[in-house]
Amino acid sequence: MRLAVMTGGGDAPGLNAAIRAVGRRAFERGDSVVGIRNGWQGLVGEGDSIELTPQAVSGILHIGGTILGTSRTNPLKRPGGIDEVQRNLRVRGIDVLIVIGGDDTLSVASALHAAGFPVIGIPKTMDNDLPGTEYCIGFPTAVETVTEALDKLHTTASAHHRVLVVEVMGREAGWVALTGGLAGGADMILIPEVPVSLDDVCAHLDRRRKLGKDFSIIVVSEGVEMPNLVSTEAVHERDEFGHVRLDRRSVGDTLARQIEAKTGLETRVTVLGHIQRGGPPNALDRVMATRLGVAAVDYAHDGRFGVLVGVQGNKLVPVDLAAVAGQTRGVDLELYELARTFF
Ligand code: F6P
Repeated sequence: MRLAVMTGGGDAPGLNAAIRAVGRRAFERGDSVVGIRNGWQGLVGEGDSIELTPQAVSGILHIGGTILGTSRTNPLKRPGGIDEVQRNLRVRGIDVLIVIGGDDTLSVASALHAAGFPVIGIPKTMDNDLPGTEYCIGFPTAVETVTEALDKLHTTASAHHRVLVVEVMGREAGWVALTGGLAGGADMILIPEVPVSLDDVCAHLDRRRKLGKDFSIIVVSEGVEMPNLVSTEAVHERDEFGHVRLDRRSVGDTLARQIEAKTGLETRVTVLGHIQRGGPPNALDRVMATRLGVAAVDYAHDGRFGVLVGVQGNKLVPVDLAAVAGQTRGVDLELYELARTFF
C-alpha cells in the first residue's frame, strides 16, 4: 500500500512518536509512506509532501513538535476544497490517508471519507476532549507540565501569602485544568463545564483565609466563561475553523485583577500557554502514540476506513469519524466533585 500521514491543528507532545510508529509498521509491512506537510495546507493548491524513509522517522520518538509541521488550514472553507485534497492525494498515488488531529482536523477527515477517500484518524489534542476515546496524544504530557508548574508556584505563593491564578489551555473542556489541578493540589479549579461566579471564587478565598490558609492557588481554563471576565479584543480574531484566539481573552489576568480588587488579597497570574504543548512527550504519550500509529497501519490493511483509532479502557477500538467530528467530550463531573473535596 501507499500510505500518507499528516498532523493538523495545534501541535502536542507525542506527534513524532506516532509518525515514527506509522512509518515503522508500514515499512515492516512493505508499504511506502508519504508525509503531508503542514496539515491540510499540504493537500491544497499544488500540495506539499515528502517521501518518508526509515531514516526520516528514526530518532524522533522523544522529540516534541512534529517533523511534518502543522497548520489550522481548513480546506472546507475553500470552494471545491475536498476535490482539491482528493486530487493531490491521487497525484501522489496515495491509497489511504492517516490523519493525526483533534476535532477540527478530523472534521475535514470525516468529510474526505464521506467524499469517498479512505481515511483513518488518530486522536491528538492536549485538550483531551474528543468523543469516543479516553486518550488523546499530548494530554498526559500537558498535565505533567501543569503539575510541575503548580509544585513550583506553591512555594512562591506560600512564601508571599498570595493568591496565584494559573491559566491553562482548554478551549471547550477543562481536562487539563481538572487533572493538572488535582495532581498539583490546586485550591480551586475553574473549568468551562462548571459555571462559577466571581462572588463564589472570592467567598471561597475568604473561607480559606478564615481557616488559617494564607495562600491559595486557583487553576483556570482559558475557555471559562464568567460575566465581565473576557477582554473584548478576543472576539475579533478567528482561525479558519471559526475559533477565537483564547490567549487574547486574558481570562487569568482579568480574574486575578478582579479577585485583588474585590478581596484586597495580593494576587498574581501565571499563564502557562504553549509550554504545555512543547518539549518531549512523557512515557505514557510515547507508548500510546506508538500503539495508535501501529494500529492505524493495521486498520489500513484490514480495510477499516472512516474511523478514529479510539482508546477505551486501555483497548484500541475503531470509532466512527462522523461521530467524532466537531464534537466535544466534557470532563467527568464525578472527578470534578472529587477535586472539590480538596478545595
Ligand atoms: O489545540 C487546542 C489548543 O491547545 C487550545 O487549548 C488552545 O486554545 C489552542 O490550541 C491554541 O492554539 P494556537 O497555538 O493556534 O494559538
